[in-house]
Amino acid sequence: MTSPKDFLRKNLTMVHGYPMTYAYEKNWENIKQFQSRPDDIVIATYPKAGTTWVCEIVDMILNDGDIEKCKRDFIDVKVPMLEMYLPGLRTSGIEQLEKNPSPRIVKTHLPTDLLPKSFWKNNCKIIYMARNAKDVAVSFYHFDLMNNLEPFPGSWEEYLEKFMTGNVTYGSWFNHVKNWWNKKEEHPILFLYYEDMKENPKQEIKKITQFLEKNLNDEILDKIIHHTSFEMMKENPLVNYTHLPSTVMDHSKSPFMRKGVTGDWKNYFTVAQNEKFDTIYKNEMSGTSLQFCTEIKGTKSQI
Ligand code: A3P
Repeated sequence: MTSPKDFLRKNLTMVHGYPMTYAYEKNWENIKQFQSRPDDIVIATYPKAGTTWVCEIVDMILNDGDIEKCKRDFIDVKVPMLEMYLPGLRTSGIEQLEKNPSPRIVKTHLPTDLLPKSFWKNNCKIIYMARNAKDVAVSFYHFDLMNNLEPFPGSWEEYLEKFMTGNVTYGSWFNHVKNWWNKKEEHPILFLYYEDMKENPKQEIKKITQFLEKNLNDEILDKIIHHTSFEMMKENPLVNYTHLPSTVMDHSKSPFMRKGVTGDWKNYFTVAQNEKFDTIYKNEMSGTSLQFCTEIKGTKSQI
């Protein structure tokens, strides 16, 4: 019999070269063999890129902006995370997906080469949301403070070192975003940015509706924008993860819906950390056309 203490605050374990949440590795054969359905919609992200936000947006789009329908269940039931496996504590991602009606929305943080082959074979639509590395690092650090499925992050300084070297769950942010960016050349992938969604949610939500071949009027789009705003989602117990036991997520350490802004990294990075980060960034991201915003103002600063 497994108990929560068997997978809380454990070190990461390696899966095909990627550091992975300890408990998830135990189910890897089933994840690998997972059978997609051709109309599955995959939401893929590196952790902390705004996954929950885009999941709720897609669910609202599929339900034509009907808030009552979107209240039918918790976010992790409506949009199960494929690789989630916590025996004795939660229904696994795979078991929940098998129960859900089509078209299913599938959440995953997997890098391209760990995504089950069936999704590529079935040519499933994939929405990838990316967020700038500095805000992801800050958000991930706070998440690791409150999420006991993760190893303890240590100090911010220690954590940032691990983040820069890809020694965190799902591995390097750099490789994740680059590989998903490249993959869109050969597969139907809508590549979105958190920063664009913050700056112009209507434009970005319209991109998703088009990609999903839906046609929603302005009134519905405005309703979706309102229902999925940070302020609304923070207070919505169906999406803010307060329904999980505090042994798993301890919101007193840091709330899941923390700040929801772009540029919070400036409150954490020292000048020296920022310089080191920029040097590593430049090296890792050389040769890619991918560009990120690290702040939203009148003018954008790009890295
Ligand atoms: P912060 O920690 O910077 O606040 P994920 O869902 O991938 O785990 O990402 C969580 C991050 O997205 C958190 O970032 C969270 O606050 C932010 N987020 C969640 N819902 C949001 C929304 N509706 N608008 C903006 N940011 C949101």
